[in-house]
Amino acid sequence: MEENTPNETSCEHHMIGGDGPNSYARNSQYQKQLLISAEDLIPQLIDKHLNNQNPSFNPKYTFTIADFGCSIGPNTFFAVENIISAVGNKYKKSNQNKTLDFQVFFNDLIDNDFNTLFRNLPSNRKYLVAGVPGSFYTRLFPKKSIHFAHCSTALHWLSRSPKEVTKSGKNKGRIHYLGGGKEGKQAYAARYEEDFGGFLRARGDELVDGGLMVLVVLGFGDGVDSSECSIGIAFEILGSCLEDMAKLGKITKEKVDSFNLPFYYPSPSELKAIIEANGSFHVEKIAELGAPMRHKPDPQVVTSHLRAVIGVLVEQHFGNGVVDELFKCHFEKFVKSPILVDEKYWKETNYFVFLKKNIFLAMVQRNTTIVAWNADGAQSSPTLLAKPKMLQAKGQKDLHTPNPAL
Ligand SMILES: C[S@@+](CC[C@H](N)C(=O)[O-])C[C@H]1O[C@@H](n2cnc3c(N)ncnc32)[C@H](O)[C@@H]1O
Repeated sequence: MEENTPNETSCEHHMIGGDGPNSYARNSQYQKQLLISAEDLIPQLIDKHLNNQNPSFNPKYTFTIADFGCSIGPNTFFAVENIISAVGNKYKKSNQNKTLDFQVFFNDLIDNDFNTLFRNLPSNRKYLVAGVPGSFYTRLFPKKSIHFAHCSTALHWLSRSPKEVTKSGKNKGRIHYLGGGKEGKQAYAARYEEDFGGFLRARGDELVDGGLMVLVVLGFGDGVDSSECSIGIAFEILGSCLEDMAKLGKITKEKVDSFNLPFYYPSPSELKAIIEANGSFHVEKIAELGAPMRHKPDPQVVTSHLRAVIGVLVEQHFGNGVVDELFKCHFEKFVKSPILVDEKYWKETNYFVFLKKNIFLAMVQRNTTIVAWNADGAQSSPTLLAKPKMLQAKGQKDLHTPNPAL
């Protein structure tokens, strides 16, 4: 990954910790609602796609689950318990559940408040736990060691804001690409492609063959004009409050100009294209979950939510003593915002993506390609991934041996 420069908004941020009034734990109803929306889909898809006849899923091994970008709870507990219950039921059906142990890895950035997370672990939990600090854009686990990966409302956080935007001033006068020009959006999209590609490469190494992954991704539908949307307007209000504070000499104009929120909201076709280019996973389902809190949003709830999520980022960039005033200003401007009276601005949605890791068994003959097979022996699409370089170099014959038994 490229080096960060001091002026860029980096990913070394985290949610507001603890369980005080501004904490993420008390201001994450939006994210919780999404997990509730996905609550029934997950068991259905686990039942259909988890192949516990595959040797990697032998119940004598511990079943490992990792929640990437878990934050401080309690949402992550809800998510992993739903997965555990569905996996347990699947093994029960084949009388295999007796010896099954679950190990849950909670991952987030190193500054995440893991203490609050561990303090609030459900006392009646039926799983072993470990915290795994570090960026999910890098490798975090040994090869083929994770059976189920989960990542909800975290992948829109880029590893950093795009360099091009900060350096060229393409985004001057705004703190995000939404509502801005084409070039700013392209720079963010390129950063996203790189980051999400890195996420998939790391998980492609870490998941067992036939391993499953759920992603919940905030985005915009294909073809939706995101220029005037609720998130963009909320960010514009935040940007105008920062401008006001700069005019009053409370922060510098340079600091405002170099502040670019590191968020990108992809469309389903962008997601699919990046997943297909990576080639390690087969998309089993993409469904739209909608956007919670859209009807009659409470301005205080929206501002508190924004503060819980980006308060630390703001403080890291502008220094101490800015956050209270900034979000007070945001609330005062937000109550007059058109978002509150017209639903036409609420264009963003959330995508539920269910992936299965391909098993790479077959190499097609006649100088052609490696073929990916998903774990039920069905050929994954797209099938043409790459020419097997080692075999070409040695002039060996390629094999074609899919194993439908796995
Ligand atoms: C909005 S919270 C979602 C938390 C939780 N998944 C939920 O549904 O409530 C996003 C989380 O992703 C984490 N995050 C952002 N970028 C990350 C990265 N590169 N690696 C690991 N965690 C990251 C943030 O620190 C934050 O805790």
